[in-house]
Amino acid sequence: MSARDAIEIDPPYDFPGYKSTALRAPKQPLIRVAPHPLEIAGPAFSRSFAKESEADLTTWGKSAPLGEKMILVGRVLDEDGKPVRNSLLELWQCNASGRYAHPVDQHNAPLDPNFLGQGKVLTGDNGEYRFVTIKPGAYPWRNHPWAWRPAHIHLSLFGNAYAQRIITQMFFPADPLLPIDPIFNSVPDPEARQRMVCKLDLEQGIEEEALGYRFDIVLRGAKSTPTGV
Ligand SMILES: [Fe+2]
Repeated sequence: MSARDAIEIDPPYDFPGYKSTALRAPKQPLIRVAPHPLEIAGPAFSRSFAKESEADLTTWGKSAPLGEKMILVGRVLDEDGKPVRNSLLELWQCNASGRYAHPVDQHNAPLDPNFLGQGKVLTGDNGEYRFVTIKPGAYPWRNHPWAWRPAHIHLSLFGNAYAQRIITQMFFPADPLLPIDPIFNSVPDPEARQRMVCKLDLEQGIEEEALGYRFDIVLRGAKSTPTGV
C-alpha cells in the first residue's frame, strides 16, 4: 500500500454522490503493471515544447476575454518537497460564464470568442509556474436537477516520469458550492481536500488589473495533491 492509499488522498473510483462514477468504476480488482524502464526515465521536454504565449490565456483572441482576470502561480514539488523542474503542466477551464469552448458543452451560457480555456507551461528551475487567465464561472451539471459545480480549473501534470502523471482540479477559497460538491468531497481526507483549494496571494496579481492566487502541487507522498478528481 502506498502512502497515498494509506491516508486515502485520492477518491474511490465509485463514489455514490457522484452519479456517473458508478458507470465507469472498474468492476474487477486492478492489476499493477511494472513500469518499463523508459517510463521511469521519461519524459524530458525541450523548452520549446510550451511557448511563452501558451501560459497567457487572455491573449488568444482579438481582445481580452470577459471576466475577472487572475494570475495563478505555484510550484510543482515531489514527495520530499524538492522542485520538479521542466515539468509539463496543462490547464483547461470554462469561461467566466461557466461554458467550455467544446462541442460537448451545450449548457445555455454564452461562449466567449476571446477565450479558449487551454494553456500549458513547463516549470522553471524551482518548480515554479505562472498562468494568466480569467476566473472560471460555476456551471450546472446533471448529477441531480439543481447540481452546480464550484468554480474550478482542471490541471494535468507530468513529473519526471510518465508514472508520476496526475490529473486534478483546483478550487477557489470560500466558494459556497464546495461543501456540497460531490467531486470535491469524494476525496476522503478533509486535509487532503484543502490541498485542492488555491490561496489568495494579492501580490502575485497585477496592480489594478488582475487578482493573484497561489497553488502548489505535490506529485506523490503523504502530502500529495489529490488526483483522479
Ligand atoms: Fe470542469
